Amino acid sequence: MEVGLIVAADRSEGIAKDGQIPWRLPSDMRHFRRMTTGTGHSTVLMGRTTWESLPERFRPLPGRRNLVLSRTAQAFPGAEQVATFEASLAAAAGSEALWVIGGAQVYAMALAHPTVTVIELTRVDADFGCDLRWAGVPAGFAQVRATPFSDGALSGTFERWER
Ligand SMILES: NC(=O)c1ccc[n+]([C@@H]2O[C@H](COP(=O)([O-])OP(=O)(O)OC[C@H]3O[C@@H](n4cnc5c(N)ncnc54)[C@H](OP(=O)(O)O)[C@@H]3O)[C@@H](O)[C@H]2O)c1
Repeated sequence: MEVGLIVAADRSEGIAKDGQIPWRLPSDMRHFRRMTTGTGHSTVLMGRTTWESLPERFRPLPGRRNLVLSRTAQAFPGAEQVATFEASLAAAAGSEALWVIGGAQVYAMALAHPTVTVIELTRVDADFGCDLRWAGVPAGFAQVRATPFSDGALSGTFERWER
């Protein structure tokens, strides 16, 4: 099973402002859906805060098994709670892929694990004054793809990194 991380960040590694992603990029939403759905047998892992940031009508993310990381046992309708990253790997066993979809806490935790071998980074070529950042692509990953996009007034690059 491939274990990857997927993130959209601005030029300053910003990923959110006031609890939300501050840009609207339909092309990135399509990219995210395509990457994380695969052939329909994939699992996504998100932190409890990211789950809560999704409008109710968009959760669980359809066509994917949804795992929510939380230290407190609680119900996430349409999703399963896991308490550790290791538990998410066990729960996702048999999936074609496990995608770590955020947020900042969960990205940091996942990148400490060598099982994460892929990063799909959407680099948005602007600065949104975000109040939440991820650490950026760590040493040890090499870029294997960079596809430019433009969407309305914004542009950027869909990047794939591997280790
Ligand atoms: N730009 C992007 O690509 C992108 C992607 C996803 C999310 N986001 C944004 O990121 C923000 C949320 O990020 P965040 O860093 O605040 O929160 P988060 O990572 O989504 O969730 C944090 C929560 O996850 C649980 N958690 C974290 N580490 C854990 C561990 N090691 N073991 C067990 N549980 C753990 C805890 O839940 P409990 O408190 O319940 O224990 C913690 O409070 C939102 O604003 C969202 O819009 C951006």
